[in-house]
Amino acid sequence: MDLMDKILSLSKRRGFIFPGSEIYGGLANSWDYGPLGAELKKNIKDEWWKRFVRQRPDVVGIDAALIMNPKVWEASGHVAGFSDPLVECKKCHERFRADHVDGTKCPSCGGELMAPKQFNLMFKTNIGPTEEQGSEVYLRPETAQAMFVDFKNVLDTTRKRLPFGIAQMGKAFRNEITPGNFIFRTREFEQMEIEYFVKESEWEKHFEAWLEEMRSWLKHLGVKKWHEQEIPDGERAHYSKRTVDIEYDYPFGRKELYGLAYRGNFDLTQHEKFSGQDLKYTDPENPKEKFLPHVIEPTWGVDRSLLVAMLEAYAEEEVKSSKLKVESENGEEEEDTRVVMRFPKWLAPVKVAILPLSKKEELAKIAKPLHAELAKEFACEYDETQSIGKRYRRQDEIGTPYCVTVDFETANDQSVTVRDRDTMKQERIAISSLKQYLIDKLA
Ligand code: GAP
Repeated sequence: MDLMDKILSLSKRRGFIFPGSEIYGGLANSWDYGPLGAELKKNIKDEWWKRFVRQRPDVVGIDAALIMNPKVWEASGHVAGFSDPLVECKKCHERFRADHVDGTKCPSCGGELMAPKQFNLMFKTNIGPTEEQGSEVYLRPETAQAMFVDFKNVLDTTRKRLPFGIAQMGKAFRNEITPGNFIFRTREFEQMEIEYFVKESEWEKHFEAWLEEMRSWLKHLGVKKWHEQEIPDGERAHYSKRTVDIEYDYPFGRKELYGLAYRGNFDLTQHEKFSGQDLKYTDPENPKEKFLPHVIEPTWGVDRSLLVAMLEAYAEEEVKSSKLKVESENGEEEEDTRVVMRFPKWLAPVKVAILPLSKKEELAKIAKPLHAELAKEFACEYDETQSIGKRYRRQDEIGTPYCVTVDFETANDQSVTVRDRDTMKQERIAISSLKQYLIDKLA
């Protein structure tokens, strides 16, 4: 089984990610985040917001409407140009992205392919009860445009001065011709984006600084190796003097993970033109100087972050059976391999599992209040079924950094056993100091 299949099977088995609408036979490569996937995704988004919005005095966040005035997408160039070349098979009528097929034959049936035509990737819908002309709108294909559209409002209300950024995260929709590779390319996905407004003369310095920020985020996420692909002249958008794609070696090949682009003042210029509003910035040090700021845009995909985090965290280990063996009432089966998700601790969907050694009331009456107390602080799980070895195995598979076992000694010594996911070492800790112990360990 290759790593991708292992991640898919673990996702389904443990409740990270399920096929969307599965009981109806699924829907076109859509995926649902299950209980653990939802926690994992939330941790990524919370950490990003904390790091790039809350902790930075020069960045503010917004949460804009997802359906925007359709003129936004005319101004941005999406109506005219946000398309992929599509080819259709004359025989089976399957459609492919022209740049994803080799030659002129259909990859499915070998039939002849028609000449490529442009296919706009934006999803259309209608506002209001009738589908009359003028009611047509789009689901946003990126989160970025709202930062330009709201630029003036943010400037007026926050009194931010250059350089400063506006950040947003949320869903984006693209009617991709060939979605696939699990959550890598889907028609509905989440982005985390920043438009960072600067003086034109300073763009290179800020570009470098954001590249460094992106590297530091990658390490924080647990990514050990990636590739920084400078997009050459002729392949970049016409307004961009520099674009770097952050690429990753997925099991299905080297492909984009994130992007960093210098967008000049293209977007503000376009929105000024299409809205008729003055979007210029007045330099407080030189009030006579009015200009449209230039923009550095770092962009992160949430779903690709999660996929890469899972690929990086996955490990299979040979373990001496005694290490997994724990004294239990029923005796323990021996195991010699374990799957462990070595998520960075901040990312783990469950931080602490409370595992009473058996279902007996004398243990539950200690373990349940302990869970209630710890759950105020961390994402916790309470699990009292199956043997302790199987429960450890499950927690390893979902990447829980600490397991707390309540055993028959606990009532006497007011202590529990804490097991570390990575070292599998066990420590006896007094209940009175357990919370602080875990706070320190998880910090
Ligand atoms: N505002 C710039 C922008 O949208 P992009 O490269 O088209 O740039 C940014 O998208 C990021 O969004 C990508 O680097 C990727 O992480 C994510 N992304 C784009 N299309 C996606 C899709 N169909 N499925 C999942 N993630 C996607």
